[in-house]
Amino acid sequence: MTARRISPLQGPGVGASPEKAVQAEALQPMTPRGVQGGEGERVPVATPARIAPLPNLPLFHKLAGRKVVVAGGSQGAVWKSELVAAAGANVVVLAGSDIAARLYDDVAAHPASGTITVHARGWEPADLAGAALALADIADEAEALRFIAAAHEAGALVNIIDRTEHCDVTFGTIVNRAPVVVAISTEGGAPMLGQSIRARMESILPLGLSAWAKAAQSWRPLLKERVKSFQDRRRFWERFTERAWQNVDRAPTEADRDALFGGAAAAPRIGKVTLVGAGPGDPELLTLKAVRALQTADVILYDDLVGPDVLELARREARRVAVGKTGHGPSCSQRDICREIVALAKAGESVVRLKGGDPLIFGRATEEIDACRAAGVEVSIIPGISAAQGAAATLGISLTERLHARRLQLVTGHGADGKLPTDIEWAAIADPVTTTVIYMPRKTLAQFVERALAEGLDPATPAVAVASATRGDQEQVAGAVRDLPALAAGLRQGAPVTVIIGKVARERALAHADVLAFSKVSEAA
Ligand SMILES: C[S@@+](CC[C@H](N)C(=O)[O-])C[C@H]1O[C@@H](n2cnc3c(N)ncnc32)[C@H](O)[C@@H]1O
Repeated sequence: MTARRISPLQGPGVGASPEKAVQAEALQPMTPRGVQGGEGERVPVATPARIAPLPNLPLFHKLAGRKVVVAGGSQGAVWKSELVAAAGANVVVLAGSDIAARLYDDVAAHPASGTITVHARGWEPADLAGAALALADIADEAEALRFIAAAHEAGALVNIIDRTEHCDVTFGTIVNRAPVVVAISTEGGAPMLGQSIRARMESILPLGLSAWAKAAQSWRPLLKERVKSFQDRRRFWERFTERAWQNVDRAPTEADRDALFGGAAAAPRIGKVTLVGAGPGDPELLTLKAVRALQTADVILYDDLVGPDVLELARREARRVAVGKTGHGPSCSQRDICREIVALAKAGESVVRLKGGDPLIFGRATEEIDACRAAGVEVSIIPGISAAQGAAATLGISLTERLHARRLQLVTGHGADGKLPTDIEWAAIADPVTTTVIYMPRKTLAQFVERALAEGLDPATPAVAVASATRGDQEQVAGAVRDLPALAAGLRQGAPVTVIIGKVARERALAHADVLAFSKVSEAA
Protein backbone atom coordinates (compact mmCIF):
# COMPACT_ATOMS: atom_id res chain seq x y z
CA MET A 1 0.00 0.00 0.00
CA THR A 2 1.41 3.43 -0.86
CA ALA A 3 1.36 5.97 1.92
CA ARG A 4 -0.49 9.14 1.01
CA ARG A 5 1.98 12.06 0.96
CA ILE A 6 1.07 15.32 2.52
CA SER A 7 2.88 18.61 2.42
CA PRO A 8 4.93 19.50 5.51
CA LEU A 9 2.93 22.71 5.64
CA GLN A 10 -0.20 20.71 6.38
CA GLY A 11 1.07 19.71 9.81
CA PRO A 12 -0.86 21.45 12.54
CA GLY A 13 0.59 24.62 13.86
CA VAL A 14 3.36 25.14 11.31
CA GLY A 15 4.15 28.83 11.25
CA ALA A 16 1.67 29.53 14.04
CA SER A 17 2.09 30.20 17.76
CA PRO A 18 1.99 27.12 20.01
CA GLU A 19 -1.40 28.21 21.40
CA LYS A 20 -2.74 28.58 17.90
CA ALA A 21 -1.37 25.17 17.04
CA VAL A 22 -3.23 23.65 19.95
CA GLN A 23 -6.39 25.49 18.98
CA ALA A 24 -5.98 24.34 15.43
CA GLU A 25 -5.64 20.77 16.64
CA ALA A 26 -8.73 21.15 18.73
CA LEU A 27 -10.66 22.44 15.78
CA GLN A 28 -9.31 19.82 13.39
CA PRO A 29 -8.88 16.70 15.44
CA MET A 30 -8.78 14.57 12.33
CA THR A 31 -5.82 16.29 10.68
CA PRO A 32 -3.38 13.48 9.84
CA ARG A 33 -0.31 13.61 12.08
CA GLY A 34 2.84 13.06 10.09
CA VAL A 35 6.17 11.47 10.94
CA GLN A 36 9.36 12.23 9.11
CA GLY A 37 9.63 9.99 6.07
CA GLY A 38 12.88 8.68 4.56
CA GLU A 39 13.04 11.52 2.00
CA GLY A 40 12.41 14.18 4.61
CA GLU A 41 8.74 14.28 3.78
CA ARG A 42 5.91 13.71 6.19
CA VAL A 43 4.18 10.38 5.94
CA PRO A 44 0.88 9.92 7.70
CA VAL A 45 0.99 7.12 10.25
CA ALA A 46 -2.75 6.89 10.61
CA THR A 47 -5.75 8.49 9.07
CA PRO A 48 -8.46 8.61 11.71
CA ALA A 49 -12.07 8.85 10.66
CA ARG A 50 -13.24 12.37 9.93
CA ILE A 51 -16.02 14.01 11.90
CA ALA A 52 -19.49 12.74 11.09
CA PRO A 53 -21.97 15.24 9.61
CA LEU A 54 -23.51 17.66 12.10
CA PRO A 55 -27.13 18.79 11.89
CA ASN A 56 -26.08 22.21 13.26
CA LEU A 57 -22.92 23.85 14.49
CA PRO A 58 -23.04 24.70 18.20
CA LEU A 59 -21.77 28.25 18.73
CA PHE A 60 -21.93 30.48 21.79
CA HIS A 61 -23.56 33.82 21.11
CA LYS A 62 -22.24 36.97 22.80
CA LEU A 63 -25.33 38.99 23.69
CA ALA A 64 -24.17 41.26 26.51
CA GLY A 65 -25.51 44.77 25.91
CA ARG A 66 -27.15 43.82 22.61
CA LYS A 67 -30.80 44.15 21.66
CA VAL A 68 -33.02 41.08 21.45
CA VAL A 69 -36.65 41.36 20.34
CA VAL A 70 -39.25 38.91 21.63
CA ALA A 71 -42.71 38.90 20.03
CA GLY A 72 -45.68 37.16 21.62
CA GLY A 73 -46.77 36.05 25.05
CA SER A 74 -46.43 32.44 26.12
CA GLN A 75 -44.50 30.51 28.74
CA GLY A 76 -41.96 29.56 26.07
CA ALA A 77 -41.43 33.20 25.10
CA VAL A 78 -41.10 34.20 28.77
CA TRP A 79 -38.46 31.51 29.37
CA LYS A 80 -36.48 32.53 26.29
CA SER A 81 -36.61 36.18 27.39
CA GLU A 82 -35.24 35.17 30.77
CA LEU A 83 -32.53 33.11 29.12
CA VAL A 84 -31.28 35.79 26.72
CA ALA A 85 -31.42 38.41 29.47
CA ALA A 86 -29.30 36.08 31.62
CA ALA A 87 -26.72 36.31 28.83
CA GLY A 88 -26.73 40.09 29.30
CA ALA A 89 -29.08 41.08 26.45
CA ASN A 90 -31.42 44.07 26.54
CA VAL A 91 -34.68 42.37 25.74
CA VAL A 92 -37.58 44.24 24.18
CA VAL A 93 -40.83 42.29 24.48
CA LEU A 94 -43.81 42.99 22.24
CA ALA A 95 -46.34 40.83 24.06
CA GLY A 96 -49.41 41.52 21.89
CA SER A 97 -51.90 42.14 24.72
CA ASP A 98 -52.15 43.28 28.34
CA ILE A 99 -52.80 39.74 29.53
CA ALA A 100 -49.77 38.39 27.66
CA ALA A 101 -47.64 41.26 28.97
CA ARG A 102 -48.47 40.27 32.55
CA LEU A 103 -46.83 36.87 32.00
CA TYR A 104 -43.50 38.71 31.98
CA ASP A 105 -44.02 40.52 35.30
CA ASP A 106 -41.70 38.31 37.36
CA VAL A 107 -38.83 37.91 34.92
CA ALA A 108 -38.90 41.57 33.93
CA ALA A 109 -38.70 42.61 37.59
CA HIS A 110 -35.60 40.52 38.35
CA PRO A 111 -33.56 39.53 35.31
CA ALA A 112 -30.38 37.59 36.17
CA SER A 113 -28.49 40.07 33.98
CA GLY A 114 -29.37 42.47 31.14
CA THR A 115 -32.80 44.11 31.01
CA ILE A 116 -36.34 43.10 30.00
CA THR A 117 -38.67 45.87 28.81
CA VAL A 118 -42.23 44.77 28.13
CA HIS A 119 -44.72 46.46 25.79
CA ALA A 120 -48.28 45.17 25.66
CA ARG A 121 -48.71 46.03 21.95
CA GLY A 122 -47.92 43.76 19.02
CA TRP A 123 -44.65 43.90 17.07
CA GLU A 124 -43.92 46.19 14.13
CA PRO A 125 -41.03 45.94 11.62
CA ALA A 126 -39.44 49.06 13.11
CA ASP A 127 -39.07 47.28 16.48
CA LEU A 128 -36.45 45.01 14.94
CA ALA A 129 -33.96 47.76 14.07
CA GLY A 130 -30.60 47.06 15.67
CA ALA A 131 -31.60 43.65 17.04
CA ALA A 132 -29.01 40.88 17.16
CA LEU A 133 -31.63 38.22 17.69
CA ALA A 134 -35.38 38.08 17.07
CA LEU A 135 -37.54 35.53 18.88
CA ALA A 136 -41.25 35.01 18.42
CA ASP A 137 -44.06 32.76 19.46
CA ILE A 138 -46.29 33.16 16.42
CA ALA A 139 -48.72 30.43 15.34
CA ASP A 140 -49.96 32.17 12.20
CA GLU A 141 -47.77 31.16 9.26
CA ALA A 142 -48.16 34.40 7.31
CA GLU A 143 -47.31 36.52 10.34
CA ALA A 144 -44.33 34.30 11.14
CA LEU A 145 -43.00 34.81 7.62
CA ARG A 146 -43.48 38.59 7.90
CA PHE A 147 -41.61 38.56 11.21
CA ILE A 148 -38.75 36.56 9.71
CA ALA A 149 -38.49 38.89 6.73
CA ALA A 150 -38.44 41.97 8.95
CA ALA A 151 -35.84 40.42 11.25
CA HIS A 152 -33.58 39.45 8.35
CA GLU A 153 -34.00 42.93 6.89
CA ALA A 154 -32.71 44.29 10.20
CA GLY A 155 -29.80 41.80 10.18
CA ALA A 156 -31.08 39.73 13.13
CA LEU A 157 -30.98 35.98 13.50
CA VAL A 158 -34.40 34.39 14.03
CA ASN A 159 -35.90 31.77 16.30
CA ILE A 160 -39.62 31.02 15.98
CA ILE A 161 -40.54 29.01 19.06
CA ASP A 162 -41.45 25.37 18.30
CA ARG A 163 -41.00 25.95 14.54
CA THR A 164 -37.48 24.67 13.85
CA GLU A 165 -38.09 24.90 10.12
CA HIS A 166 -38.24 28.69 10.54
CA CYS A 167 -35.20 29.04 12.79
CA ASP A 168 -31.74 30.38 11.97
CA VAL A 169 -30.70 29.40 15.49
CA THR A 170 -32.15 27.03 18.06
CA PHE A 171 -31.67 26.88 21.82
CA GLY A 172 -29.90 23.99 23.46
CA THR A 173 -30.80 22.51 26.83
CA ILE A 174 -28.34 24.12 29.20
CA VAL A 175 -26.21 22.95 32.09
CA ASN A 176 -25.01 26.13 33.74
CA ARG A 177 -21.77 26.16 35.71
CA ALA A 178 -20.85 29.63 34.44
CA PRO A 179 -18.37 30.34 33.03
CA VAL A 180 -18.64 26.65 32.06
CA VAL A 181 -21.77 26.18 29.98
CA VAL A 182 -22.87 22.96 28.30
CA ALA A 183 -25.60 23.10 25.68
CA ILE A 184 -27.36 19.98 24.42
CA SER A 185 -29.30 19.81 21.21
CA THR A 186 -31.35 16.98 19.77
CA GLU A 187 -32.23 19.09 16.72
CA GLY A 188 -35.76 19.41 18.10
CA GLY A 189 -36.27 15.67 17.66
CA ALA A 190 -36.27 14.48 21.27
CA PRO A 191 -36.58 17.30 23.82
CA MET A 192 -37.28 14.83 26.65
CA LEU A 193 -34.11 12.93 25.83
CA GLY A 194 -32.26 16.26 25.89
CA GLN A 195 -33.70 16.94 29.35
CA SER A 196 -32.59 13.54 30.61
CA ILE A 197 -29.09 14.09 29.21
CA ARG A 198 -29.05 17.41 31.03
CA ALA A 199 -30.11 15.70 34.30
CA ARG A 200 -27.24 13.23 33.92
CA MET A 201 -24.75 15.98 33.20
CA GLU A 202 -26.03 18.00 36.16
CA SER A 203 -25.22 15.02 38.33
CA ILE A 204 -21.64 14.69 37.16
CA LEU A 205 -20.72 18.37 36.94
CA PRO A 206 -20.47 19.66 40.51
CA LEU A 207 -21.58 23.21 41.27
CA GLY A 208 -18.05 23.89 42.53
CA LEU A 209 -16.75 23.65 38.97
CA SER A 210 -18.01 27.17 38.45
CA ALA A 211 -15.70 28.64 41.12
CA TRP A 212 -12.65 26.84 39.66
CA ALA A 213 -13.46 28.03 36.15
CA LYS A 214 -13.85 31.60 37.42
CA ALA A 215 -10.51 31.31 39.19
CA ALA A 216 -8.97 30.10 35.92
CA GLN A 217 -10.30 33.20 34.19
CA SER A 218 -8.95 35.54 36.83
CA TRP A 219 -5.54 33.83 37.11
CA ARG A 220 -4.96 33.72 33.37
CA PRO A 221 -3.48 37.27 33.00
CA LEU A 222 -1.10 36.64 35.92
CA LEU A 223 -0.01 33.39 34.36
CA LYS A 224 0.73 35.10 31.04
CA GLU A 225 2.77 37.71 32.84
CA ARG A 226 4.72 35.29 35.01
CA VAL A 227 5.14 32.21 32.88
CA LYS A 228 6.56 32.88 29.46
CA SER A 229 6.99 29.42 28.03
CA PHE A 230 4.01 27.81 26.36
CA GLN A 231 5.03 24.39 27.67
CA ASP A 232 5.16 25.67 31.27
CA ARG A 233 1.78 27.33 30.88
CA ARG A 234 0.39 24.08 29.55
CA ARG A 235 1.79 22.21 32.55
CA PHE A 236 0.26 24.83 34.84
CA TRP A 237 -3.18 24.16 33.32
CA GLU A 238 -2.70 20.41 33.66
CA ARG A 239 -1.94 20.85 37.36
CA PHE A 240 -4.82 23.28 37.71
CA THR A 241 -7.28 20.87 36.13
CA GLU A 242 -6.17 17.98 38.29
CA ARG A 243 -6.41 20.10 41.44
CA ALA A 244 -9.83 21.43 40.42
CA TRP A 245 -11.31 17.93 40.04
CA GLN A 246 -9.73 16.71 43.25
CA ASN A 247 -11.15 19.64 45.22
CA VAL A 248 -14.26 20.39 43.27
CA ASP A 249 -16.46 20.40 46.36
CA ARG A 250 -14.80 23.59 47.60
CA ALA A 251 -13.90 26.89 46.03
CA PRO A 252 -10.23 27.50 45.15
CA THR A 253 -8.29 29.52 47.70
CA GLU A 254 -5.26 31.77 47.63
CA ALA A 255 -3.30 28.78 48.92
CA ASP A 256 -4.28 26.87 45.77
CA ARG A 257 -3.18 29.76 43.62
CA ASP A 258 0.12 30.10 45.46
CA ALA A 259 0.76 26.36 45.28
CA LEU A 260 0.05 26.31 41.56
CA PHE A 261 2.10 29.40 40.79
CA GLY A 262 4.86 28.44 43.18
CA GLY A 263 6.06 25.61 40.96
CA ALA A 264 3.70 23.05 42.38
CA ALA A 265 4.88 20.90 39.51
CA ALA A 266 7.54 19.59 41.79
CA ALA A 267 5.24 19.33 44.81
CA PRO A 268 3.96 15.83 45.55
CA ARG A 269 0.34 15.11 44.71
CA ILE A 270 -1.77 14.92 47.83
CA GLY A 271 -3.87 11.78 47.89
CA LYS A 272 -7.05 11.16 49.83
CA VAL A 273 -9.50 8.39 50.65
CA THR A 274 -13.26 8.64 50.20
CA LEU A 275 -15.51 5.95 51.63
CA VAL A 276 -18.43 5.80 49.25
CA GLY A 277 -21.78 4.09 49.71
CA ALA A 278 -22.73 2.18 46.57
CA GLY A 279 -26.28 1.46 47.74
CA PRO A 280 -27.92 -1.98 47.65
CA GLY A 281 -27.48 -2.64 43.95
CA ASP A 282 -29.61 -0.46 41.71
CA PRO A 283 -27.07 2.07 40.32
CA GLU A 284 -29.77 4.75 40.18
CA LEU A 285 -29.75 4.77 43.98
CA LEU A 286 -26.26 6.25 44.13
CA THR A 287 -26.03 9.82 45.38
CA LEU A 288 -24.76 12.57 43.11
CA LYS A 289 -21.69 12.86 45.31
CA ALA A 290 -21.02 9.14 44.99
CA VAL A 291 -21.15 9.37 41.19
CA ARG A 292 -18.81 12.34 41.22
CA ALA A 293 -16.36 10.54 43.47
CA LEU A 294 -16.40 7.59 41.06
CA GLN A 295 -15.85 9.94 38.14
CA THR A 296 -12.79 11.56 39.67
CA ALA A 297 -11.14 8.57 41.35
CA ASP A 298 -7.69 7.31 40.39
CA VAL A 299 -8.32 3.95 41.99
CA ILE A 300 -11.44 2.21 43.31
CA LEU A 301 -11.32 -0.61 45.84
CA TYR A 302 -14.70 -2.31 45.83
CA ASP A 303 -16.51 -5.02 47.75
CA ASP A 304 -18.18 -8.15 46.43
CA LEU A 305 -21.58 -6.59 46.89
CA VAL A 306 -20.84 -3.82 44.42
CA GLY A 307 -22.18 -4.83 41.04
CA PRO A 308 -20.83 -4.05 37.56
CA ASP A 309 -23.69 -1.59 36.91
CA VAL A 310 -22.34 0.64 39.65
CA LEU A 311 -18.73 0.32 38.50
CA GLU A 312 -19.93 1.28 35.06
CA LEU A 313 -20.39 4.82 36.41
CA ALA A 314 -16.71 5.13 37.29
CA ARG A 315 -14.10 7.03 35.29
CA ARG A 316 -12.86 4.75 32.52
CA GLU A 317 -9.22 5.29 33.42
CA ALA A 318 -9.71 4.54 37.13
CA ARG A 319 -8.01 1.35 38.34
CA ARG A 320 -10.51 -1.05 39.89
CA VAL A 321 -9.43 -3.41 42.62
CA ALA A 322 -11.80 -6.08 43.95
CA VAL A 323 -11.19 -6.45 47.66
CA GLY A 324 -14.10 -8.74 48.50
CA LYS A 325 -13.49 -12.40 49.27
CA THR A 326 -13.90 -13.47 45.66
CA GLY A 327 -11.64 -10.67 44.43
CA HIS A 328 -8.51 -11.08 46.50
CA GLY A 329 -8.98 -14.54 47.91
CA PRO A 330 -8.65 -15.29 51.61
CA SER A 331 -5.63 -13.01 51.95
CA CYS A 332 -7.72 -9.85 51.51
CA SER A 333 -8.17 -9.14 55.17
CA GLN A 334 -9.46 -5.91 56.59
CA ARG A 335 -5.87 -5.13 57.62
CA ASP A 336 -4.71 -5.54 54.00
CA ILE A 337 -7.42 -3.20 52.81
CA CYS A 338 -6.54 -0.55 55.39
CA ARG A 339 -2.87 -0.82 54.47
CA GLU A 340 -3.64 -0.59 50.77
CA ILE A 341 -5.87 2.49 50.89
CA VAL A 342 -3.34 4.33 53.04
CA ALA A 343 -0.43 3.38 50.78
CA LEU A 344 -2.31 4.47 47.65
CA ALA A 345 -3.34 7.80 49.17
CA LYS A 346 0.22 8.42 50.36
CA ALA A 347 1.39 7.81 46.82
CA GLY A 348 -0.85 10.72 45.80
CA GLU A 349 -3.83 8.75 44.51
CA SER A 350 -7.43 9.79 44.91
CA VAL A 351 -8.80 6.56 46.39
CA VAL A 352 -12.46 5.57 46.46
CA ARG A 353 -13.29 2.79 48.87
CA LEU A 354 -16.61 1.63 47.46
CA LYS A 355 -18.84 -0.33 49.81
CA GLY A 356 -22.24 -1.92 49.33
CA GLY A 357 -25.15 -0.04 50.93
CA ASP A 358 -24.04 2.61 53.38
CA PRO A 359 -20.36 2.55 54.36
CA LEU A 360 -21.22 3.29 57.99
CA ILE A 361 -23.60 0.36 58.46
CA PHE A 362 -21.88 -2.99 58.97
CA GLY A 363 -19.14 -1.76 56.65
CA ARG A 364 -16.11 -1.86 58.97
CA ALA A 365 -15.64 1.80 58.22
CA THR A 366 -14.14 2.59 61.62
CA GLU A 367 -11.02 0.53 60.90
CA GLU A 368 -10.49 2.31 57.60
CA ILE A 369 -11.18 5.78 58.98
CA ASP A 370 -8.81 5.15 61.89
CA ALA A 371 -6.09 3.81 59.60
CA CYS A 372 -6.28 6.92 57.42
CA ARG A 373 -6.28 9.30 60.36
CA ALA A 374 -3.38 7.51 62.01
CA ALA A 375 -1.41 7.87 58.80
CA GLY A 376 -2.38 11.54 58.37
CA VAL A 377 -4.38 10.77 55.22
CA GLU A 378 -7.45 12.90 54.49
CA VAL A 379 -10.57 10.74 54.66
CA SER A 380 -14.18 11.66 53.90
CA ILE A 381 -17.43 9.73 53.70
CA ILE A 382 -20.27 9.73 51.20
CA PRO A 383 -23.29 7.91 52.62
CA GLY A 384 -25.35 5.44 50.64
CA ILE A 385 -28.76 3.77 50.75
CA SER A 386 -28.53 0.82 53.11
CA ALA A 387 -29.95 -2.62 52.32
CA ALA A 388 -32.76 -2.13 54.86
CA GLN A 389 -33.90 1.06 53.16
CA GLY A 390 -33.61 -0.40 49.67
CA ALA A 391 -35.52 -3.52 50.68
CA ALA A 392 -38.27 -1.59 52.50
CA ALA A 393 -38.69 0.76 49.54
CA THR A 394 -39.11 -2.07 47.04
CA LEU A 395 -41.64 -3.76 49.35
CA GLY A 396 -43.50 -0.49 49.83
CA ILE A 397 -43.32 -0.60 53.63
CA SER A 398 -42.22 1.99 56.15
CA LEU A 399 -39.58 0.91 58.66
CA THR A 400 -41.09 3.01 61.43
CA GLU A 401 -44.71 3.70 62.35
CA ARG A 402 -46.08 6.11 64.90
CA LEU A 403 -47.89 3.46 66.96
CA HIS A 404 -46.51 0.10 65.86
CA ALA A 405 -42.81 0.69 65.33
CA ARG A 406 -41.34 3.43 67.47
CA ARG A 407 -37.85 2.02 67.25
CA LEU A 408 -35.77 0.68 64.39
CA GLN A 409 -32.85 -1.56 65.22
CA LEU A 410 -30.24 -2.90 62.84
CA VAL A 411 -28.53 -6.05 64.07
CA THR A 412 -26.07 -8.43 62.54
CA GLY A 413 -26.60 -12.17 62.47
CA HIS A 414 -22.90 -12.67 61.90
CA GLY A 415 -20.52 -12.18 64.84
CA ALA A 416 -16.76 -11.72 64.52
CA ASP A 417 -16.41 -15.53 64.65
CA GLY A 418 -19.07 -16.07 61.98
CA LYS A 419 -21.58 -17.33 64.57
CA LEU A 420 -24.69 -15.69 66.01
CA PRO A 421 -23.41 -12.84 68.22
CA THR A 422 -23.71 -13.66 71.90
CA ASP A 423 -24.40 -10.14 73.09
CA ILE A 424 -27.70 -9.39 71.33
CA GLU A 425 -30.19 -7.52 73.53
CA TRP A 426 -33.03 -10.06 73.28
CA ALA A 427 -35.54 -8.01 75.25
CA ALA A 428 -35.25 -5.35 72.55
CA ILE A 429 -35.79 -7.96 69.82
CA ALA A 430 -38.95 -9.19 71.59
CA ASP A 431 -40.32 -5.63 71.93
CA PRO A 432 -43.67 -5.65 70.04
CA VAL A 433 -43.36 -1.99 68.92
CA THR A 434 -40.04 -2.22 67.18
CA THR A 435 -38.76 -3.08 63.72
CA THR A 436 -35.73 -5.33 63.68
CA VAL A 437 -33.60 -5.57 60.56
CA ILE A 438 -31.09 -8.40 60.47
CA TYR A 439 -28.08 -8.02 58.21
CA MET A 440 -26.03 -11.08 57.24
CA PRO A 441 -28.71 -13.45 58.60
CA ARG A 442 -28.27 -16.42 56.30
CA LYS A 443 -26.29 -18.85 58.40
CA THR A 444 -27.83 -18.03 61.75
CA LEU A 445 -31.47 -17.15 61.06
CA ALA A 446 -32.96 -20.34 62.53
CA GLN A 447 -30.92 -19.89 65.69
CA PHE A 448 -31.80 -16.21 65.88
CA VAL A 449 -35.54 -16.86 65.60
CA GLU A 450 -35.48 -19.74 68.05
CA ARG A 451 -33.73 -17.61 70.66
CA ALA A 452 -35.95 -14.55 70.00
CA LEU A 453 -39.13 -16.66 70.46
CA ALA A 454 -37.72 -18.09 73.67
CA GLU A 455 -37.07 -14.53 74.87
CA GLY A 456 -40.69 -13.51 74.27
CA LEU A 457 -41.02 -12.43 70.61
CA ASP A 458 -44.54 -13.24 69.43
CA PRO A 459 -44.21 -16.15 66.95
CA ALA A 460 -46.92 -14.60 64.78
CA THR A 461 -44.96 -11.35 64.29
CA PRO A 462 -44.82 -10.54 60.55
CA ALA A 463 -41.43 -10.98 58.90
CA VAL A 464 -39.94 -10.80 55.44
CA ALA A 465 -36.60 -11.90 54.00
CA VAL A 466 -35.39 -10.04 50.90
CA ALA A 467 -32.59 -11.28 48.67
CA SER A 468 -30.72 -8.99 46.26
CA ALA A 469 -32.94 -6.05 47.13
CA THR A 470 -33.30 -3.39 44.38
CA ARG A 471 -31.54 -5.58 41.81
CA GLY A 472 -33.15 -7.12 38.78
CA ASP A 473 -33.07 -10.55 40.43
CA GLN A 474 -34.66 -9.53 43.77
CA GLU A 475 -36.62 -12.27 45.59
CA GLN A 476 -38.53 -12.18 48.85
CA VAL A 477 -40.42 -14.52 51.16
CA ALA A 478 -42.77 -13.46 53.92
CA GLY A 479 -44.81 -14.94 56.73
CA ALA A 480 -44.93 -15.26 60.50
CA VAL A 481 -41.46 -15.00 62.04
CA ARG A 482 -41.67 -18.58 63.33
CA ASP A 483 -41.84 -19.79 59.70
CA LEU A 484 -39.24 -17.45 58.24
CA PRO A 485 -36.12 -19.66 58.53
CA ALA A 486 -37.80 -22.40 56.50
CA LEU A 487 -39.12 -19.90 53.94
CA ALA A 488 -35.78 -18.08 53.63
CA ALA A 489 -33.93 -21.33 52.95
CA GLY A 490 -35.54 -21.27 49.50
CA LEU A 491 -33.91 -17.96 48.52
CA ARG A 492 -31.19 -18.17 45.89
CA GLN A 493 -27.90 -19.36 47.37
CA GLY A 494 -25.15 -16.75 47.43
CA ALA A 495 -27.49 -13.73 47.19
CA PRO A 496 -27.27 -11.13 49.99
CA VAL A 497 -30.32 -11.34 52.25
CA THR A 498 -31.83 -8.86 54.68
CA VAL A 499 -34.60 -9.79 57.13
CA ILE A 500 -37.21 -7.36 58.44
CA ILE A 501 -39.20 -8.39 61.51
CA GLY A 502 -42.07 -6.33 62.90
CA LYS A 503 -45.61 -5.17 62.40
CA VAL A 504 -44.52 -2.90 59.56
CA ALA A 505 -44.21 -6.06 57.42
CA ARG A 506 -47.80 -7.14 58.11
CA GLU A 507 -49.23 -6.56 54.66
CA ARG A 508 -46.47 -8.55 53.03
CA ALA A 509 -46.72 -11.33 55.60
CA LEU A 510 -50.52 -11.48 55.76
CA ALA A 511 -50.67 -12.71 52.22
CA HIS A 512 -48.67 -15.74 53.25
CA ALA A 513 -49.54 -16.72 56.79
CA ASP A 514 -51.66 -16.28 59.83
CA VAL A 515 -49.81 -13.38 61.40
CA LEU A 516 -50.70 -10.79 64.00
CA ALA A 517 -53.68 -8.75 62.88
CA PHE A 518 -53.77 -5.08 63.81
CA SER A 519 -54.81 -1.85 62.22
CA LYS A 520 -52.67 0.70 60.46
CA VAL A 521 -51.61 3.83 62.29
CA SER A 522 -53.99 5.97 60.31
CA GLU A 523 -56.92 3.73 61.34
CA ALA A 524 -55.81 3.54 64.96
CA ALA A 525 -54.97 7.24 65.45
C1 LIG B 1 -21.31 -6.48 55.19
S1 LIG B 1 -22.99 -6.11 55.22
C2 LIG B 1 -22.97 -4.57 54.43
C3 LIG B 1 -24.20 -3.77 54.66
C4 LIG B 1 -24.18 -2.50 53.87
N1 LIG B 1 -23.13 -1.62 54.32
C5 LIG B 1 -25.52 -1.77 53.88
O1 LIG B 1 -25.61 -0.67 54.43
O2 LIG B 1 -26.48 -2.31 53.31
C6 LIG B 1 -23.61 -7.19 54.03
C7 LIG B 1 -25.06 -7.50 54.25
O3 LIG B 1 -25.86 -6.44 53.82
C8 LIG B 1 -27.09 -6.96 53.37
N2 LIG B 1 -27.27 -6.59 51.96
C9 LIG B 1 -26.45 -5.84 51.23
N3 LIG B 1 -26.97 -5.65 50.00
C10 LIG B 1 -28.14 -6.29 49.98
C11 LIG B 1 -29.16 -6.45 49.01
N4 LIG B 1 -29.06 -5.89 47.79
N5 LIG B 1 -30.25 -7.17 49.33
C12 LIG B 1 -30.38 -7.71 50.54
N6 LIG B 1 -29.46 -7.58 51.49
C13 LIG B 1 -28.35 -6.89 51.23
C14 LIG B 1 -27.03 -8.45 53.53
O4 LIG B 1 -27.57 -8.75 54.79
C15 LIG B 1 -25.55 -8.69 53.48
O5 LIG B 1 -25.22 -9.91 54.08
